[in-house]
Amino acid sequence: MRTIIYNGKGGVGKTSVAAATARRCAKLGYRTVIMSVDTAHSLGDCFDVKLSAEVINVEKNLDALELNIIHEMRTKWSSIRDYISAFMISQGVEDITAEEMAILPGMEMAAALFYVLQFKDSGEYDVVIIDTPPTGETLRLLSFPDVSNWYIDKLFGLLKRMVSLARMTVGKVIDVPLPSREVMDSIEDIKDNMEMVKKILEDPENTTIRLVLNPERMPINETMRAYTYLCLYNKTVECLIVNKVLPPEVDGNFMKKKLEEQKDYMELIHEAFDPLKIMYAYQLQTELRGFEKLDEMADMIFGDSDPAEVYAETSPMHFESEGGTDMLYIKMPFIEKDDIELFRGNNNSVIIRAGDHKRTVALPMTLSDAEMLGAEFDGEDLVVKFKRVKESGK
Ligand SMILES: Nc1ncnc2c1ncn2[C@@H]1O[C@H](COP(=O)(O)OP(=O)(O)O)[C@@H](O)[C@H]1O
Ligand SMILES: [Mg+2]
Repeated sequence: MRTIIYNGKGGVGKTSVAAATARRCAKLGYRTVIMSVDTAHSLGDCFDVKLSAEVINVEKNLDALELNIIHEMRTKWSSIRDYISAFMISQGVEDITAEEMAILPGMEMAAALFYVLQFKDSGEYDVVIIDTPPTGETLRLLSFPDVSNWYIDKLFGLLKRMVSLARMTVGKVIDVPLPSREVMDSIEDIKDNMEMVKKILEDPENTTIRLVLNPERMPINETMRAYTYLCLYNKTVECLIVNKVLPPEVDGNFMKKKLEEQKDYMELIHEAFDPLKIMYAYQLQTELRGFEKLDEMADMIFGDSDPAEVYAETSPMHFESEGGTDMLYIKMPFIEKDDIELFRGNNNSVIIRAGDHKRTVALPMTLSDAEMLGAEFDGEDLVVKFKRVKESGK
C-alpha cells in the first residue's frame, strides 16, 4: 500500500493538490482513499461532493474521509476515554467530555495514522493520500509515534505503579481510580499500533511526504524548516510541488512585476531544495473546484506520469549524531569537491557555497548555537559537522 502525505503552509494548495492526485490515481485504476486531517475541511468543496467523518465512495476507485476527532473519540477508544474521565473526576476536575479530550495534542494525527493501519490491514486500497494540517502542527504530529511512545511508556509505568501500590495499601483509601484490565489492554494496543505506524511511516518504499509551497517568501521559509525537521525525524521527503506559479504569458505591469519577483523566489527554492525533485502547477484564473479543474491541475503537475510513483526513496538530506558531533549530510552531486565555504545565515540557517552553487539549509533548534567544525565530502554527500555547545533538553 502506497501512502502519500501532503504538507505545507496554510493556503498554498495542499488540499487541491492532494485531491488532484487522488482523482488521477483513481482514474489510473488504483483503489484510492483520500483522508483530510485538517480541522478546517475543504476537501469536500474541492471535489464538490459532501463528505463525512466516515469513509464514503466518491466515484469509481475513489473513497474519501474528512476525519473528525470528536466522532473518532465517541465511536472508538471508549475504555481509555472513560478511564481518563474517571481519573479527572478523582482529581477534582469535572467530567471530561469527548469534545474536550479531542483537543489533547496529537489526537487528530494519531487517529489518522490508525486509519492508515486499518487500511493496510484490510488490503482494500492501493493508495492512501493524506491531506494534513499546516506545517508546524503536522511536524509535531508526524513525530507523534516517537513522542507518543515516550508518553505512553510514562503513562503505562505510572499506571502499573498505581496498581502495585494499590495492592500494598489494601485497606487504605486510594483516591485515584485504578485502570481496569481493559484500559491496560487498550494502552498496550495503542502502543503496538504506534510501533506499526512508525514502521509504515518510515518505510521509504511505500510512504513519502510531498511538500507543497508557493513561490513566496513565507511559504519558502516555512517549507525549509519543515524539510529539515522531517529529515531529522527520518521521514522521506520525495518531492516539492510549487503551486500557483504565474504563467509566463501574464500581462499588465503589476503581474509582470510579480512574475519577476517569482523568478527570484524560484532561485531561492532551488538553493534550498536541490536536488529534490520539483514539480509545478500554474495559478489558474478560475476557482479550483470540481473534477474537471482537479484534472487540469493533475495534468500540470504529473503530465502523463504516474502520481503514485515513489520519486525518491531517500531525502537528499539527513542528520546523524556520533560521539558528541552532529553531522548534516546533503547530497550535492556534480559539485567540485574543493573550495567549499560555509556561512551562518539568517534565521538559524547555514549557507554552503561550492563553486557556482549555493545551498541554504535551515538548522534544527538543537543546532542553533552549535559550533560549525567544517565540511567534507563523503561520496556524493557533503557532510557538515557541528559540535553542540551545551547538551540541550536531556
Ligand atoms: N493552482 C491554483 N490556481 C488557482 N487557485 C488555486 C490553485 N491552487 C489552490 N488554489 C486555491 O487556493 C485556495 C487554497 O487552496 P487549498 O488547496 O485549500 O490550500 P491548503 O489546503 O494548503 O490550505 C483555494 O481557494 C484553492 O481553490
Ligand atoms: Mg487544506
